[in-house]
Order: sequence, then structure tokens, then C-alpha cells
Amino acid sequence: MTTATANQRIQSLRQQLNEHNYRYYVLDDPSVPDAEYDRLFRELQQLESEHPELISADSPTQRVGAEPLKAFPSVTHQVPMLSLGNVFDDASLQAFVSRVMRELDDLGRAVDQAEFCCEPKLDGLAISLIYQKGQLVQGVTRGDGQTGEGITENLKTLRSIPLRLRRETPDQPLPALLEVRGEVYMPRATFEAINERARLAGEKTLANPRNAAAGSLRQLDPRITATRPLEFTAYQVAQISEGFAAATHWLAMQQLKGWGFKISSLLSCVQGYAGLKNFCDNLAAQRDQLPFDIDGAVLKINDLRLQAELGFRAREPRWATAFKYPAQEQITQLLDVEFQVGRTGAVTPVARLEPVQVAGVTVSNATLHNMDEVARLGVRIGDSVIVRRAGDVIPQIVRVIIEQRPADAREVQVPAACPVCGSHVERAEGEAVYRCTGGLYCAAQRKEALKHFASRKAMDIEGLGDKLIEQLVDAERVKSPADLYRLELEPLAALERMAEKSASNLLQALQTSKQTTLARFIYALGIREVGEATAANLARYFGTLDALMKASKEELLDVDDIGPIVAQHIRAFFAEPHNLETIQDLLDQGIAWPEAERRREDLPLTGQTWVLTGSLDSLTRDQAKERLEALGAKVSGSVSKKTSRVVAGAAAGSKLTKAESLGVAVLDEAGLLQCLSELE
Ligand code: IVH
Repeated sequence: MTTATANQRIQSLRQQLNEHNYRYYVLDDPSVPDAEYDRLFRELQQLESEHPELISADSPTQRVGAEPLKAFPSVTHQVPMLSLGNVFDDASLQAFVSRVMRELDDLGRAVDQAEFCCEPKLDGLAISLIYQKGQLVQGVTRGDGQTGEGITENLKTLRSIPLRLRRETPDQPLPALLEVRGEVYMPRATFEAINERARLAGEKTLANPRNAAAGSLRQLDPRITATRPLEFTAYQVAQISEGFAAATHWLAMQQLKGWGFKISSLLSCVQGYAGLKNFCDNLAAQRDQLPFDIDGAVLKINDLRLQAELGFRAREPRWATAFKYPAQEQITQLLDVEFQVGRTGAVTPVARLEPVQVAGVTVSNATLHNMDEVARLGVRIGDSVIVRRAGDVIPQIVRVIIEQRPADAREVQVPAACPVCGSHVERAEGEAVYRCTGGLYCAAQRKEALKHFASRKAMDIEGLGDKLIEQLVDAERVKSPADLYRLELEPLAALERMAEKSASNLLQALQTSKQTTLARFIYALGIREVGEATAANLARYFGTLDALMKASKEELLDVDDIGPIVAQHIRAFFAEPHNLETIQDLLDQGIAWPEAERRREDLPLTGQTWVLTGSLDSLTRDQAKERLEALGAKVSGSVSKKTSRVVAGAAAGSKLTKAESLGVAVLDEAGLLQCLSELE
């Protein structure tokens, strides 16, 4: 390839990669799978290695390469990075609004209703980015507000930070100088995944996403930062060349979005106290569901000229404040550690805590994961500990306050015998967990196995809740899943909290559950590490239970997402005589599913991607998804050019609008039903 052709291809690859990043991070609407991104990336790397003279500092490949530093340079901010004042309740919020209105009035600004722009207060680290002629030239931490650390190379590894500003057209003018500020943070799911991996490897875990982000940014070796997926969301323009300044914060944010920065999707403009209060309450209600930690809402006067006129007092702006939410970490006392036995016999230590309010919820239990974690934390019964609750994740103990350890603190000890069935407890070579060796003899394992069997995504036995299963096992009415199908009306109706009606409904639900799918049945068996998605892959690949039961390790390894460990668990499961008996017993009870007639490759919707939006009347979204998948379709959550069809139920919103703007075919519920009935 000549240098000129290579250069052309390199430019095109860079542009495509930048555009994919933009769609992924800024528009939250990826148009290609990760594998395609990786392929383009490798092609660019290859070409650049063959033509090193064509490497430029803003190439997407330069996000990972820099050499380690000896120390970070200290950099003085051209505009100091200040902090925000706080309000904690309605009264102080009201006082903030009144003060701003009074100050505007003093300035001779007759505003009857001040307009505010509101956004989440992200719990990460503030940083400043300087762009000269559209190129990222410097990235600095907040430091003490006057001087921070230059961490440019580390920040370049974040794919949500543009290395150069994006243009809509090649001749679009860019500001000679731009200073953007925002927050670097680690999404919660990334944090949980990193900790889970560390736990399995017996390594130290990270305390919370904020510390994790700080630690990752402070690495002198940018190659380490590159392995920790951090994100950046912009929230302020601190400096901009003349002629480019926007009139409001809202418009400044839209301008940044156009240049390729991720801005908050929750950004919202409101009027006066009522509007602010409403925003803060709504955001608080969403807090647990957000993919990242927040510690409040930031409320800013929208008009940038009014901001400038109001100015600063001491080290805080007069034009903004933070409405703080209750902290996600609290101190409490570890009262005891109990051991719970799970479905696979894992004996897990559970912390019993002195009840404490954490981010609006009373916490009295926390998971300790396993004994390695107990050892790592060095926690003893009686200790003062910091508990953290974030999102839907079970509360965790972050660390021990060692200075407060009482003299009589006791070590945590694993019981030698299972607390439920008395069987021997052992630890397998190379595993972090202790397990009860009782198998299905152990009532705890039996209960968990049955709960799993009956659960919504497994056999979906309506009315068979956890409490009822516990009663049935304790009364020795049910030992194996097939026993469920032998239950009779009278003894059922005699159980606690049961009556004739509920018992007869349950029997009906048991009958209904017999008609199932192969994927559900495989999932219901509770094979170790075979979750819903893996079960669906297995069903699709093998088509029949028989083929799965006979599968060799090599065949199993051929299935999507199955590695040697899961393959081994599957083989071991079907090698166990009592599992085979249980399966036969279930089939004898009449459990059945439609025989697969076709393999995945020649299903009618293979290769198509469908999106479901809005609500459907005659079936749930899960049911629609299951049926489309059975026909070979992929069901995705977001609409893009590649979407084959969008099913729009009642009250469909932005996905429908988007489908229409992209010209993607849209079906209503009737259309979906007709399509299913034709193809199934
Ligand atoms: S605006 C002049 N907006 O909060 C102050 N700050 O106490 C401009 N923060 O260290 C800051 N999310 O790290 C602003 N949406 C947001 C924010 C935000 C988080 C942090 C920021 C700063 C601290 C201010």
C-alpha cells in the first residue's frame, strides 16, 4: 500500500472510530457491536505500525500507548476551580432561591422567576480539560482549586473524552481556546465487576466507585488507567474564545454535546423554587436506578450573563448550589456473623448489623461474600464498620474502623458443620467458598433449588412463593421438584396462609407450568453457572434435551459464552445419577416443550434485530421477547439504523420517534401478533 492510500484509509478509520465513540458515549446509541469497533481499531493499529510517520497525537490508538511518568506535573488553573455551597432540606433550598432573587434584584435585574438548569451531582472527581484549536492539550485534576496535577495522558485513555473536538462539517469553525470541566467517575456496574473479579482472584477490593476512579486516575502508568473503564461527563465551560460563548448553561451544554462531550441526560431547566424542588425529588427517587453514584443535585442559574453578574462569595458561586442527598456510607456496629446456605451449598457469611439508615433505607444485614473477604477486611464481631448501600446491590461492609475495636471483639469462624443439615463443610481446592456437602439432603439447598425451579424466569409457577416452599420442605411434603406436581388440594389448603381457593389456584398454576420451553427447563434445573442467557444459548444450539445431555465438552465449548468451567459444570450435572432420575421424574409428570424443528441458522428471523417499546395488551414484553427470540431474532433495547423492526405498544415514546426518523419499519401490537402467528 502506498503512503497516500494508507493515509486515506487511516483518516477514514479514525473518523469512523471517533463517530462510534460519539454514538456510544454521547448519544448513548451505539450503531455497531463492540467487536466491529475492535476490528476497526486493530486495522488502524496495524496501518499505523506499518506507517509510523502517519501517527498523530489525536489518533484513537494514542489513548493507550503513553509511557509511565515519574511524577505528575503541578499545573496552576487559569480559572480557579471552586466548590459549591450546600443545601440539605426544603427550608434551605427555599432560602437559597430567595437569596438569589434578592441579589438579582439588588443588581437591578428585575426577574420575576429565575430560571435554573439542574443536573445530578456526580460522585467522582472534578477535572479540567484544555482544548487549543480543537485539540486536547491538557487535562488537570481539581487539586486544591488553585493548582492541580497534570494527568493528560491518563485522561486521554477515557473514550468519552474527545481527543479533538468533533465537527458537523469539515469547515465548521472551532474555538481557539476551550476549557471544559466535568466529572470523571466509574459506573457502578464496572465497579461491581472489578470487585467481583478481585474477590475471585483473592485480591484487594475497591471501597467505592469514587475511590476506584481516584485510584485509577492517579496511576503514573496510563496503561493501568486504560484498563479501568472510567467515564467523563461535562458540566461547565470555564473558558471559551470570543464569539463562541453561549447565552445559557443549557445552550453551552448542547454546544459541548455537539463537540463530542457526554453531558448529563438528566439536564433540565426549571423555574423557581417549585421547579427546583420537583427536580430534586424526582432525581432522588431515581437515585437507586441510576448507573452511577450521585450525592445530590446541582442547581445553576441558567443565564450565563446573570451568573457572571452574581459572581462568587468566598470560594463558592452565588449562582449555584448543591442539594445534597443522604450519604451512601454510614458507621454502624457488627453484631454477629451468621452463615447462610445457598442453592449450590455455598456457605456465605452474612453480617448482622445494628440497624442504621443508609441513603434513606434501614440496613440491618450486609453480605460478606466469603471468608477471604472477611480476612481481607480483618473484621471481627463487635467492630465498628462502614457500610455502603448503592443502587439495588446488597449493602456491603467497606472497612473496619480499627481504632474503635472493643477489647472483646471476636474472630469470625466458619462452622465445621452445615448450620442447616449438619453435613460436613469443606473448601474445594482453589475456591474461595466453603460448601455444605449435604447436596439435596440439606434442606437449605433443597429450598433454594425449589425456589429457583419455581421462579418467574424458570418454570414460572405462579403462587408458589418462597414462604410456601419453605413450609413444604419443612413439612417434608416436597423433596424434589417433581414432588411439586404430586401435591394435592386438601393438604395444601391446610398449610399456613393457604385456603381452598389459593391451593386450587396453585394446582392450576402447576398444570400450566408444565407447558414450557426447553430454555426455561434447562435454566430451572439450576446447573451451576448456567443462568438464563446461557440456558437460552444451550437450548438454541442443541435443540433437544437429549442432545444437550449427551453433549461432549468440545460441543459445549462451541456454544456462545460457554467456557471450560461452565462446560465442566454441565457435564458433571448430567453425570450425576440422581439428577437424571429427577429429570425423568419431571418428564413423567408431563413437563413438555415444543420440539425444535429448526436449528438457529435457518429460523425465519435469524439476523434481524427487533426493538420492543411501549406496553402491549395481550402479552408481556418478556413473552414477546421470548417468542421473537425463538424465531431467531435478536431483541435489543435501543433503536439504530440496523434495527429491523420496532414494535410500538401503547404510550411508546422516544424509541418510536427515533425509529420514524431513521425510517425503521414500525409494527403495532396487532402487526406483531400477526407476524408471530405466521412464523411460529
Ligand atoms: S458545577 C463553580 N456541576 O461538585 C462550581 N459540579 O462542590 C462548578 N460536581 O468538585 C461546579 N457534579 O466535582 C458542577 N453537575 C455538576 C457536578 C459538579 C459533580 C462536583 C464537582 C465539584 C463539586 C463542587
